[in-house]
Amino acid sequence: MEGSLRLRRRWNIPVLVATIRGMLKRMPSNQARALVAAATAMPTSDPRISYPSWYLHRWHFLPEGYLSRRSAAGYENLVRHVYNQGLEASTIRATVSELARLAPRALVEVGCGPGRLLQKVAERGIGHDLVGVDLSPYLLERARRRLKHQRIRLVHADGLALPADEGAFDAAISSHYVGHLPPAVRPLAVAELARVVRPGGHVVAVEHRWHPWPECPGLRRIRHIRQSLGFIGLSVFERTDAIVGTPS
Ligand SMILES: C[S@@+](CC[C@H](N)C(=O)[O-])C[C@H]1O[C@@H](n2cnc3c(N)ncnc32)[C@H](O)[C@@H]1O
Repeated sequence: MEGSLRLRRRWNIPVLVATIRGMLKRMPSNQARALVAAATAMPTSDPRISYPSWYLHRWHFLPEGYLSRRSAAGYENLVRHVYNQGLEASTIRATVSELARLAPRALVEVGCGPGRLLQKVAERGIGHDLVGVDLSPYLLERARRRLKHQRIRLVHADGLALPADEGAFDAAISSHYVGHLPPAVRPLAVAELARVVRPGGHVVAVEHRWHPWPECPGLRRIRHIRQSLGFIGLSVFERTDAIVGTPS
């Protein structure tokens, strides 16, 4: 009796869900090694990039996570319909309106994936210097195809160590990027977004409501839209003058 109580206490529902998700997401190490080797050999890939172990997961239950052409296609074709349940178009519209209001000249989207949001941003004529960053060369490949008629720089880089100077951008976007990182690295990802935005500039966050956005010194939330977007929240943060600290 006492044993089953202890078991029940240890295996409460959230722990059980997290454990099952973890098991389903895990990628065998030989498969991970092969995917990394193939990704590194891509001509558009930056050979200096190293992939953190948490990245080598079956994200969205796609067998090769973000690291194959097949998975990148799967991400676009399946996940945005299933995961965002028809809210993608309205979310992109709301985000683009918000960006039009902020009118940044230099804008970066980190974790831009296949570039669907950047496409709408560019079509609306927002910004003069648009940059998309992603760690997956395969998703960047799709972004490159989609954005071939737009003047957007697509960079293969790690959002946790962005190759950009402090204050280089007027605005930075995270759309389903920070929320999809392991909780332990989210503060560093937000600190990097804040670092590359100038004081008075903005970080725009589009995330599922169940993905908490970590507090970051030097970032102040000035706007939060949730009503029209169901379970997706859109927040605008302003970078204050405070020095942006890198969390330990
Ligand atoms: C859920 S997808 C979102 C993609 C796109 N923003 C969208 O809304 O469809 C998360 C994206 O973040 C990228 N990503 C994850 N960790 C990253 C990192 N450390 N640096 C850069 N990109 C990263 C993934 O490769 C993937 O493209």
